Amino acid sequence: MRDYALIHVNGVPREVRGRDAFMMLADWLRREVGLPGTKIVCAEGDCGACTVLRAFAPRGAGGSPPRFEAVNSCIAMVAQMDGSHLVTVEGLQEGDVPAPAQEAMLRCHGSQCGYCTPGFVMAISGMLEQHPVGEIDDRVAANHLTGNLCRCTGYQPIVEAACAAAAVDRRSVGDRYGTAEAFSRAEEAMDRGLEIAHEGRRVFAPTTLEEACAFASRHPECRVAGAFTDLGVPINKGRAMPPALLSLHLIPELLEMEDDGRRLRVGARVSLASLRRRCRDASPEFARFLNLFASPQIKNVATLVGNVATGSPIGDTLPFLLVAGGSVHVASPPAGRGPLRRREIPMTELYRGYRQLALEPGEIITHVAFDHDAGDETIRLYKVSQRKDLDITTVGAAFAVVWDGPRRIASARVAYGGVAAVPLRMPEIEAALVGELDPRKAESIARAIGDAVQPISDVRGTAAYRRVLAANLFRRFATEVLDG
Ligand SMILES: Cc1cc2nc3c(=O)[nH]c(=O)nc-3n(C[C@H](O)[C@H](O)[C@H](O)COP(=O)(O)OP(=O)(O)OC[C@H]3O[C@@H](n4cnc5c(N)ncnc54)[C@H](O)[C@@H]3O)c2cc1C
Ligand code: FES
Ligand code: FES
Repeated sequence: MRDYALIHVNGVPREVRGRDAFMMLADWLRREVGLPGTKIVCAEGDCGACTVLRAFAPRGAGGSPPRFEAVNSCIAMVAQMDGSHLVTVEGLQEGDVPAPAQEAMLRCHGSQCGYCTPGFVMAISGMLEQHPVGEIDDRVAANHLTGNLCRCTGYQPIVEAACAAAAVDRRSVGDRYGTAEAFSRAEEAMDRGLEIAHEGRRVFAPTTLEEACAFASRHPECRVAGAFTDLGVPINKGRAMPPALLSLHLIPELLEMEDDGRRLRVGARVSLASLRRRCRDASPEFARFLNLFASPQIKNVATLVGNVATGSPIGDTLPFLLVAGGSVHVASPPAGRGPLRRREIPMTELYRGYRQLALEPGEIITHVAFDHDAGDETIRLYKVSQRKDLDITTVGAAFAVVWDGPRRIASARVAYGGVAAVPLRMPEIEAALVGELDPRKAESIARAIGDAVQPISDVRGTAAYRRVLAANLFRRFATEVLDG
């Protein structure tokens, strides 16, 4: 076991031990590494001021070439960044020559007070790592900048700067910092697990699932850490760091997706960005919908398993998983000697109450699985929030219907989020949908949905508003499928 996390910052390897391993990455970069170009504004993943680029490539990560992606450093814990290659705004410039994103921000007047500027420069640089010259237009650029806020300049000059930077031939960050030497040093370190303890806190990252399950059952108080995008926010807002954290980032099988052509099995450390790329063929509607999930910085690390395990009734992926035959695979230590105990829990049985999961103490979710879209099926996913990008859902809905005629439904699955303490499948509504669908029937089903749900009132909307939304989302679905 290592007693340090290995992190390359702007090409320089750093072994991080003790207290520093429990700091948030942005604080560590600014205070301990002496790189204050990374800014902290919201400290909760919402503004992008703290954006850095990260590449992570442990052995067995599916063989895809590592690439540098934009991530928020304010809600990432340093130990969780073990094995990562980070580039901060200080690492972009080559000698006296500013990077294309920096040059373009200057030329296009993309900065005024400048506080948000390093974050935008890093988000633009992350975009440039993913698209060849000539592939970026206003729409693509705006999508890559949904995780960044600016209070002074206005977004048009910044989007122009992103497009201008994209038109310039450039040497990629990956070419500069993704050297074989740096990657092989990190790989070698990651062949060994990590355990760091400091003043009553401990983070443990083993390389096998067996060790992870044994730790979870020996330490029932431990929190399993996915990418920390949910866990990190309350810690920044004053909640104590959990006394024991179990990180799964070194376990090769959890970094993989398996696809048998019918069902996709997604490991606990697969990012939503990788999942979205994979779903373009397997489940295009889900891939489209993931556009609306958080921001690129969050999706580049956050996991599907983490979304499922938060147990939040407004988790965006849950209505989809409920209609797509979703299930979670869990593992726990054997009673005596022998292999791990494994079981599969259908999503319809996972949620027992508000944020309560049907997991036994010591059980870890290893994968989430769901069906590919079937050819004869229509799937539609909807999210209503107070603004389109980077916002929490008020009500979400998923509809999947199989047709046996132009307007005749053979079977239907309907699920909602944000209308009860748990995400809901609605079997009575599904049964009522079977048969001919016409506008009159659609209206009566919309009313039945509004009557059936039991939402609560909170800052995002009253119970009455949510009832109307739930009914209206079905009206929208029916209109879309009836109008073809
Ligand atoms: C700015 C911002 C925007 C966001 N936008 C959205 C959004 O649009 N839609 C949305 O649904 N969510 C959103 N979220 C919430 C969050 O990003 C997601 O829920 C994400 O999928 C969590 O994944 P993670 O890997 O970071 O989980 P973590 O934060 O690491 O963990 C979340 C929870 O899951 C548990 N857990 C993680 N892995 C396992 C495992 N293998 N076994 C058992 N338990 C486990 C953890 O203990 C913790 O309780 C947003 C968060 C932020 C900060
Ligand atoms: S400081 Fe706002 S996203 Fe990190
Ligand atoms: S330039 Fe001031 S916040 Fe963007």
